[in-house]
Amino acid sequence: MFDRLPAYADDPILGLFETYKADPRPDKVNLGIGIYCDEAGQVPVLESVRAAREAGAGAHGPSVYLPTEGDEAYRHAVRELVFGGNTGNIVVVQTVAGTGALKVGADFLKGVLPDAAIWMPDPTWANHEAIFAGAGFSVESYPYYAKATGRFDLDGAVAALRKLQAGSVVLLHPCCHNPTGVDPSQAEWRALLDVIEQRGLLPFFDMAYQGFAHGVDEDAWAVRECVRRGIACLVASSFSKIFSLYGERVGALAVHASSADQGRLLGQLKLAIRRSYSCPPAQGAALVEAVLSNAAWNAQWRAELDAMRARMRAMRTGLHRMLGEALPEQDFGFLVEQSGMFSYSGLSARQIAALQSRHGVYVVGSGRICVAGLNESNIARVCEALADVCGG
Ligand code: LMR
Repeated sequence: MFDRLPAYADDPILGLFETYKADPRPDKVNLGIGIYCDEAGQVPVLESVRAAREAGAGAHGPSVYLPTEGDEAYRHAVRELVFGGNTGNIVVVQTVAGTGALKVGADFLKGVLPDAAIWMPDPTWANHEAIFAGAGFSVESYPYYAKATGRFDLDGAVAALRKLQAGSVVLLHPCCHNPTGVDPSQAEWRALLDVIEQRGLLPFFDMAYQGFAHGVDEDAWAVRECVRRGIACLVASSFSKIFSLYGERVGALAVHASSADQGRLLGQLKLAIRRSYSCPPAQGAALVEAVLSNAAWNAQWRAELDAMRARMRAMRTGLHRMLGEALPEQDFGFLVEQSGMFSYSGLSARQIAALQSRHGVYVVGSGRICVAGLNESNIARVCEALADVCGG
């Protein structure tokens, strides 16, 4: 029956993380998977989250099913976080993290727009294509990262989007583009949204790092600008990184559609959830809801987010300075120009393999470096390792 199963080529990010964990070298450094680690190299428990937990949020009581669409107070809090004050004509459902939001969104769209193709930036997160192809989409790409300049390819993206059929779905990263760390400027976003509006395209934003680039409100600018312009769109939110709740799988999918009957829209989202995992898990979302809804914890969380962002920025600056000293003839400006957890290094497959085998420094095969894995204790070693593989 199962004697001809195809082999699974392990996921390039999660598989690498398993290899890293199995590496016995005590001084190994994980710059692969997107996990924020603090100065001590640990995944932090945010004080705001700890305070909410100690006050009883997410505590074990009788374990009952949440509604299919998730907890109402959580959905309300997420709506405010993502869209700020402008929250009309938006339906939010709680999902199993950002990946669950993408999957529910993909299934929902396949049901209501069965012939639409999805267009993704080149490159994009390794799992995007799998999720949408798995939901039956034809997956295409549009130019995003210009290798020659290391910058956003606005002309290429606009030219590609201009050719798309009305109703095509366009995947966008509103901030901290994964894997490149290269984000459009506000002027560039305006140009992209102009084409999207003119061509009647449907943006699907994947927002896993709201607050990691410039701030909670600044990073949601493109999403909110869509709403301000009356453009229908979807937003997948993940709270794994920004609340440091990786294992809890907390996320949400928001759909902005002013022309849709909101009750029917919610109904179609519930249908997609019910036949996938029925209803979401309770505890992580209860923690996020408590933090967002309590003024003191909310302020504390925003300060913790600011501190995470500042630490990643400091690591970028530090590595940039050290590499500049070690290899003055090479340009590492990309480190300080890019935003968020990731930097696209341009390292070759051979250099990445040497980093791992010779130095125990783990970097994703695309050349993506997670700067959130750097700290004052490992940055000099990482710099030496990079200088070794880049200098030869
Ligand atoms: C990443 O890109 O490293 C993270 O989003 C983790 C994952 O699931 O791939």
